[in-house]
Amino acid sequence: MPEINVLVVDDIANTREDVKRLLYFEDDITVIGEAADGEEAIAMAASLKPDVILMDINMPKMDGIQATENIANSCPECSIIIVSIQGEQEYLRRAMAAGAREFLVKPFSGNELAEVIRRVYESNRKRLSLMGLQSQASPRIKIQKGKIITLFCSKGGVGKTILASNLAIALAQTTKKKVVLVDLDLQGGDIGVMLNITIKGTIAELAQEVDPLDISLVDSYLLPHLSGAKILPAPLSPEQAELITLQRVEELLQVLQENFDYVVVDTSPLFNDINLAALDAATQILVLLSQDLPCVKHVKTTMDILTTLGYTDKIKLVINSAGMEGGIKITDLEKSFNQSAFAVIPYDEKVVRSSINKGLPAVMTQANSKIGEAILDLATKLAGSKSDSNENQAEEIPKRSLIGRLFSF
Ligand SMILES: Nc1ncnc2c1ncn2[C@@H]1O[C@H](COP(=O)(O)OP(=O)(O)O)[C@@H](O)[C@H]1O
Ligand SMILES: [Mg+2]
Repeated sequence: MPEINVLVVDDIANTREDVKRLLYFEDDITVIGEAADGEEAIAMAASLKPDVILMDINMPKMDGIQATENIANSCPECSIIIVSIQGEQEYLRRAMAAGAREFLVKPFSGNELAEVIRRVYESNRKRLSLMGLQSQASPRIKIQKGKIITLFCSKGGVGKTILASNLAIALAQTTKKKVVLVDLDLQGGDIGVMLNITIKGTIAELAQEVDPLDISLVDSYLLPHLSGAKILPAPLSPEQAELITLQRVEELLQVLQENFDYVVVDTSPLFNDINLAALDAATQILVLLSQDLPCVKHVKTTMDILTTLGYTDKIKLVINSAGMEGGIKITDLEKSFNQSAFAVIPYDEKVVRSSINKGLPAVMTQANSKIGEAILDLATKLAGSKSDSNENQAEEIPKRSLIGRLFSF
C-alpha cells in the first residue's frame, strides 16, 4: 500500500487536531505537517511536497483559495482538497477554478475523509504517470484531430439526447466523414433505445479492458448505424457507471478524436468528473436551453462555471423546443445571456415522438420537417465552423489538462 503524506491547513489548532485524530488509525495516511494560513501552506507545500493537502478556506493573511491557486501551479504533484463548512456554489466554483480536486463539507467521518484522500491521491498518481508517458511518447508529431462536440445542460429533459443522436447522424449524412456518437450519460443513457440498436458491448466493458485503449480495441465496441455514424452506448445498468474511471474516459476521447472527424458526446445533467472531461476535451460545447425559467436558471450557473473554466470561446448556445406556448422570447434569452443563439431547434412533438418510437432519427425519416431541417442546418454550420481550436490542437504539446485541476463530487 502506498503511504500518502498529508499537509493539514487550518487556522484553528483544534480543527487540525481533529483531522489528525480522524486519520490516526489509517495506516496508509500520514499527516506530515500543519499550516495555519495560506502563506504558511505555500511554504510547507514547497518544502514538504505532500501528496495531498487538506485546505481550509477562511484563514488570516492568505485564504485557502488563493493558496490553492498558487500551489496548484507550483506543485502539480500535490492534490488539494478544500475543506469547508460552506458548501455554496460560489466557493465551489472558486475552488474548482483555483485548482482544487475535491471539496469536502464539514462535518465528515474519518472514513469519508480517508476515502477522499485515497481517491484523490490515486487519480493524481495515474494522471501524472499518464502525462509522463504522453510527453515521452508523443513529441511534436502532427496528429490529425477531429472535432469533439459535447452537448451539455445541467438540467435533464432539455433534449440533449435527441439532439446529440440527430446531430451525429446529420453530420454523417451531410459530410460523409467519420462520425462517432458517445453516450456519456453513464447512469441513464438512452441513445441505444432512441436509435433502436442492438447492444452487444458498451463503454462499461470497454473501460474495463486491461489493454491500453487503441483504435482497434475501441472500434470493436462501436456499433455501426445505417447512417454511417458509429455509436458507443452507455452501460446497460446504472451501477456499471462506477466501473468507468475518469482516466479511461480521457483516453477514450483522445483515441476517438485522433481517428474520427466528429465525436459527438451526449452527457448527463451533472457537473461530475466524467462530464468535465468531455467539456474539457470539447472543441465545441453546445449548451442547451429551453424557453422556461428553471432551465434559464440552470444555464446561467452552467455558463458561470464554463466561463470560470475558460471555455467561453467554445460555447455555443442552442435553444431547443422553441416555439412552445408561453415560452420566454428568444430575443430576451439572447439578451439575458448576452449572446445570440447558434441554433434554434423548434418544438415538434409529433415528429419527435414518432421518431423515438420508430427508433429512427428525425433527420433521416423526416428530414423535411422543421425540426429535421433545423438540425441539418446545425450540422452544416458546425461542419463549416472554424471557430474551434482544431488546427492549434493538432500540434499541441501535451499540457496539464484543465480537468486535472478539477475535482469530482
Ligand atoms: N425539439 C423537441 N420537440 C419536441 N419534443 C422534444 C424536443 N426536444 C426534446 N423533446 C422531448 O423531450 C424529451 C427529453 O429529451 P432528451 O433528449 O431525452 O433530453 P435530455 O437528454 O436533455 O434529458 C424527449 O423524450 C422528447 O419527447
Ligand atoms: Mg439524455
